[in-house]
Amino acid sequence: MMDRFRTIIEPFRIHAVEPIRMSTREERQTAISAAGWNLFGLHADDVLIDLLTDSGTGAMSRDQWAAIQHGDESYAGSPSWFVFLEAVTALWPFRHVIPTHQGRAAEKILFSVIGGPGKVIPNNTHFDTTRANIEATGAEAVDLVIAEGRDPSALHPFKGNLDVAALEALLAARADDIPVVLVTVTNNSGGGQPVSLENLRAVRAVCERYGKPLFLDACRFAENAWFIKTREPGQAGRDIPDIVRDMAALADGMTMSAKKDGLANIGGWLALDDDAIAESCRNLLILTEGFPTYGGLAGRDLEAIAQGLREVVQDDYLHYRIRSTAYLGEALDAAGVPLVKPFGGHAVYLDARALLPHIPPLAYPGQALAVALYIEGGIRGCEIGTVMFGRHPDGSETPASMDLVRLAIPRRTYTQSHIDYVIEVVSRVAARATDLRGFRIAEPQPSALRHFTARFEPLA
Ligand SMILES: Cc1ncc(COP(=O)(O)O)c(C=O)c1O
Repeated sequence: MMDRFRTIIEPFRIHAVEPIRMSTREERQTAISAAGWNLFGLHADDVLIDLLTDSGTGAMSRDQWAAIQHGDESYAGSPSWFVFLEAVTALWPFRHVIPTHQGRAAEKILFSVIGGPGKVIPNNTHFDTTRANIEATGAEAVDLVIAEGRDPSALHPFKGNLDVAALEALLAARADDIPVVLVTVTNNSGGGQPVSLENLRAVRAVCERYGKPLFLDACRFAENAWFIKTREPGQAGRDIPDIVRDMAALADGMTMSAKKDGLANIGGWLALDDDAIAESCRNLLILTEGFPTYGGLAGRDLEAIAQGLREVVQDDYLHYRIRSTAYLGEALDAAGVPLVKPFGGHAVYLDARALLPHIPPLAYPGQALAVALYIEGGIRGCEIGTVMFGRHPDGSETPASMDLVRLAIPRRTYTQSHIDYVIEVVSRVAARATDLRGFRIAEPQPSALRHFTARFEPLA
């Protein structure tokens, strides 16, 4: 297709610009120390290239801003709701669509209805908010990604696949306790790795045998569909919306954050076929989010998401998206930086445990690397490792399966020269990796999702 040339041209021109405030190393050192060495505590003006998350940080298109002008703010039955509903069900034809202000609100509502003490909910890898919302109901969240998905350097085209044999064993042992099986596409916490249609079919078959519903955590469904198109045998010539509808047909429901592949800055939904569960969810929605035709959103947000869903499944966009993420990964790989491979769709994950073997997992190598990237070049990444996952509900702590730093790429936001700068900064930090030191977390720690608000102290 466009691969006759090496340069990835962004399939858009820039229409409005946002300034980036330049800063010095000394200013950044002061800022991060004042923030308790937690990158979530920074003033975003003190960040040069913000790769903290791809969630809600993308640039909307001209047509999305135009759609916002069509936003109708009627409390009930707004035309914008019907535009949204049509765009969602064109890809995900579930019987019930319940709009929420973002993905975790959909999770909170779903697990409040079907979770609870004694329940077990398997997934390839639960995202942190998913795990936290499950555990908040007293249920247990179990990760069953295939073995390759836990090995940063194992090459596998679908490292997000769920281990079907492990799922079968869990169902055989505890079927009565399992209200739903989840699969996250792409598998964010496992490195942004895709799940194949073949794996979804196999998971579906096991779920059917045990009479269990299969739900997708579908935040990055379009990126997952692109990987299916480009990597899965027999899928090459297909349209992305058709592949998405195949994914939908294998599931009984979904949670979604429109801040990712909705190409919007806010929004989400819960969609499902089961009438009784949908009714309980809608009752909770009214209590916590809003009326069922707007959920936690304004009419204008519903319009922006509807237009985003039309744009996110376009080949030119997805080709650019996946190629430009791989461009960052390939350059860092060539520079000898240890990475999760193959590269995910929305992010490149640096393997901090491999780069910093002198920092034990409980001294948080991912945090050490993320802080160093910020001080060196003003780049804000995100620790995905023992800080995020190491602490258990009983207060004990063990190393997470990997210690990664995620460099998440906001959609349509940075150009290739921004990314070239990132490559330079990461390479420079990696070259002096032995100088980096670990951290401890100051007590008392936050009781849940500690990575957002914990304060750190550098170890000597
Ligand atoms: C896989 C996955 N699930 C759920 C969520 C939660 O979505 P939100 O941030 O909109 O609450 C995220 C957000 O990053 C995610 O990546």
